[in-house]
Amino acid sequence: SSPLLIDADPGCDDAVALCLAAADPAIELRAVTTTHGNSTVENTTRNARAIVELFDSGDVPVVAGAAHPLLVARSTAEHIHGSGGIRGDLPAVSGSPATVETHAAQFIVEQARAHEGDLSIVAVGPLTNIALAVAIEPALPELLDELVVMGGTVAAHGNVTPLAEANFHSDPHAARKVIEECAPTVVGLDATLQATLSPAWIEAIDRETRRGRLLAEWLTYYDEEALARYDLESAPIHDAAVVAHLLDDQLLTIKDCHMAVGTNSSIEHGALACDLHGISEEAANGRVALDADTDRFRDRLTGTLSEFLDR
Ligand code: BDR
Ligand code: CA
Repeated sequence: SSPLLIDADPGCDDAVALCLAAADPAIELRAVTTTHGNSTVENTTRNARAIVELFDSGDVPVVAGAAHPLLVARSTAEHIHGSGGIRGDLPAVSGSPATVETHAAQFIVEQARAHEGDLSIVAVGPLTNIALAVAIEPALPELLDELVVMGGTVAAHGNVTPLAEANFHSDPHAARKVIEECAPTVVGLDATLQATLSPAWIEAIDRETRRGRLLAEWLTYYDEEALARYDLESAPIHDAAVVAHLLDDQLLTIKDCHMAVGTNSSIEHGALACDLHGISEEAANGRVALDADTDRFRDRLTGTLSEFLDR
């Protein structure tokens, strides 16, 4: 199994992504680093700790990172994910979770150096921590096995503005730096809006257990209005699509291409531009997901989540 670090802002879909990573034996979850995003970093860190404890993965360190974007003002998404950044009645953090005092960005650099060539990073919040890490260690991309980020949109249209997706919109300067310097695999809304579970499967979750109740809440974080907006029957589990990609390299349709991110405060704020037809003649600087196989996603997720619920 390959070592993985998840940088996240839990967040309902982040929570499902963490669940998948913790429950699948093919992944060795090394650490969770946290960022501002769906809520403040204080809240996302507390949520991450509670989630990690819920999975009996209390020895997985949770390391707090950036409280604010690099240059723009902080925005949160509690109207979607719930007050405190997550839905459901997460248990209070008990005992003493493995606390690390280092800043997430420094921690990421140390982990990448310690596991040179081996560590993969999945970044599913605003990219502030990753941008700071590559500022500390410009060789970060070469030290990693793979960096996969959830963010951006190519042709699916944005979820914050017509052109911008939330993670890139929240910290466009960080997204730009990571795109320009880290050769990432970018998994945006084109793929993740197809990463849904069937309403019938969600309905059948046993709500008698705490895990069942929480999972059901996380999987239904979109209200009727949000579902109608994207013409969906159930909520997209964006961040879990990225973890599922690590487990199944046939899940996403991915293309090498040159990418850029807009950073001005106009309509291009946080917008991802992908040169899919090679019109700029710039060499590819990463890979972008254009599509996801919904059936494969469902098989992968429901298999692992069912096991997790029965445990
Ligand atoms: C992304 O934004 C966040 O609200 C979600 O957790 C996901 O990472 C989707 O645009
Ligand atoms: Ca997220």
